[in-house]
Amino acid sequence: MTSDTEVITRTGKIRIHDEAGFEGMRKAGRVVAECLDMIIPYVVPDVTTESVDKLIYEFVMDNGASSATIGYHGYRHASCISVNHVVCHGIPSERRFKNGDIANIDVTVVVDGWHGDSSRMYGLGDVKRKAERLMDVTYESLMAGIATVKPSARVGDIGGAISAVAARNRVSVVDMFCGHGLGQVFHDEPNVVHSAKAGTGPVLEPGMFFTIEPMLNLGKKDCGVLSDGWTATTRDRSLSAQFEHSLAVTENGVEIFTLSPTGQHTPHNPDLGAKIPIPGQ
Ligand code: MF3
Ligand code: CO
Ligand code: CO
Repeated sequence: MTSDTEVITRTGKIRIHDEAGFEGMRKAGRVVAECLDMIIPYVVPDVTTESVDKLIYEFVMDNGASSATIGYHGYRHASCISVNHVVCHGIPSERRFKNGDIANIDVTVVVDGWHGDSSRMYGLGDVKRKAERLMDVTYESLMAGIATVKPSARVGDIGGAISAVAARNRVSVVDMFCGHGLGQVFHDEPNVVHSAKAGTGPVLEPGMFFTIEPMLNLGKKDCGVLSDGWTATTRDRSLSAQFEHSLAVTENGVEIFTLSPTGQHTPHNPDLGAKIPIPGQ
């Protein structure tokens, strides 16, 4: 690529950001959160996933942002839409949502060079109890992971908390994809392994930015990637769910950059988001 803008790459170390970084991340996180709110009425049966992606693209462009995923290793869409047994990186297409589907919608934007990355689960019409339960448990696991984040905790504490929620509910934790540092780089250090053991991994310090994005399966944890090179599915075709936030370690604990400004944290179950406390709030 020919550009006179600085190319910022992975350093192998976890970056510590200053107040300007926090300001940048708040703006980027807010655009993503508003976007995931905006699509709620459109994620309904008979709508194609590519038409929701188009709404996302237009929202991003209209809000002073750009899409981090368009052009990312050849990816061509403003979102990943992962339905039922698709674990992540589902490609928007002519496929129509149908009654009973569960879908993860994942959006990453760039505002003034800073990345906001978040995803939520959306339930389509009459969702089966076991699918509803998987989505609830996945959200609970994300919040339990976030609640461990504070200075001097370890990165592995996050995965330890997620794994405990999953084990208690007899669902599995995907280990093929991780949360990641982000900031001016989309995928940076550290790797946040959702199945990690508490007490392991790098020590957290104020100013570190990363995502937590657990994927939980009703069946086994094993995944494969389709021949399109992107779509990851469960090998046993069991249902999979995921939630993702972008956040920072602060002096006191954690700041989540991608909270829904309207409290619609769990579109599949509007009451659940209000019931589960939000760390750092
Ligand atoms: N948003 C995803 C993440 O959470 C990455 C998507 S990359 C894409 O890290 F190219 F598939 F869009
Ligand atoms: Co991410
Ligand atoms: Co994402």
